[in-house]
Amino acid sequence: IHDFVNINQISLTDVKRFIILAEAFKQGASITLQRPAYALNMFFENSTRTHTSFEMAERRLGVQVLQFVPSASSVSKGETLLDTLKTLQAIGINLAVIRHSQNAYYQPLLQAHLTLSLANAGDGSGQHPSQSLLDLMTIFEEFNRLNDLKIGIVGDLAHSRVARSNAQILQSLGSQVYFSGPKPWLTADFRQWGKFLPLKELLPQVDVLMLLRVQHERFQAAEENAFETQSYYQQYGLTPARLAMLPQHAIIMHPAPVNRDVEIADQLVECSQSRIFTQMQNGVYARMAIVAALLASQGIIKEQELQELI
Ligand code: CP
Repeated sequence: IHDFVNINQISLTDVKRFIILAEAFKQGASITLQRPAYALNMFFENSTRTHTSFEMAERRLGVQVLQFVPSASSVSKGETLLDTLKTLQAIGINLAVIRHSQNAYYQPLLQAHLTLSLANAGDGSGQHPSQSLLDLMTIFEEFNRLNDLKIGIVGDLAHSRVARSNAQILQSLGSQVYFSGPKPWLTADFRQWGKFLPLKELLPQVDVLMLLRVQHERFQAAEENAFETQSYYQQYGLTPARLAMLPQHAIIMHPAPVNRDVEIADQLVECSQSRIFTQMQNGVYARMAIVAALLASQGIIKEQELQELI
């Protein structure tokens, strides 16, 4: 694939191939670059995990990473994202990893048929495909399948690109998706991917509990005024009492950053059922698989070399 902007753009077979490739990198596999490759990670929204693990993935593959600071770039003078990418392409960049607050910011960029590859590191409340791939990898490691699982996604659904990416792909892969949390945050689009359940009905039956961060930065003023941390934790947070309602085999996931004692009790963030830090570790390998596939589309990595790892 030349660009990776939406987890649902790849076939279900390719999801599994990406996971196998990511697992090969996790086991220490390496690949050879046919010529020097250059990446730029352009984060117009803040990030710790995605930014750092894309950079780690690029460096581990031997890609040279150039620095980009949005506030110091000519985007701040009004240059469009498309002109910025055309400029970077002319300078010799092969891969642009972009996080942006605007949903589907990548659509006009794809229509320009750029030679550099684009990896979406999160667009507004739209998609977070690399997070989704690392989440699928983490689930696959646990259950050795991605179908016939019960997945509960709980919390700030409305603002969550993680929830949208994961609900859609997991339903397509043959798992059952359930949602819970404050009803005003269950926006209409989620109804096509799963059922809404009260938390006490959802918890005892799920294999995977995905908690979502409350995204204050995307709140309208009225939402912020109405939000009460304690009340949210009491009604929807993973408390020790609610942990006891989960099946013993169930795993707990959260894309992080975690609001401790809001979405999940502080002492449960690293409990035995939590895979939150495994998700972060898998993020490096999932992103190595993405970067490798994009560079293969440009002939920088031999397709055959990737195939041999799958
Ligand atoms: N999960 C995630 O996207 O985290 P960051 O915002 O820190 O990249």
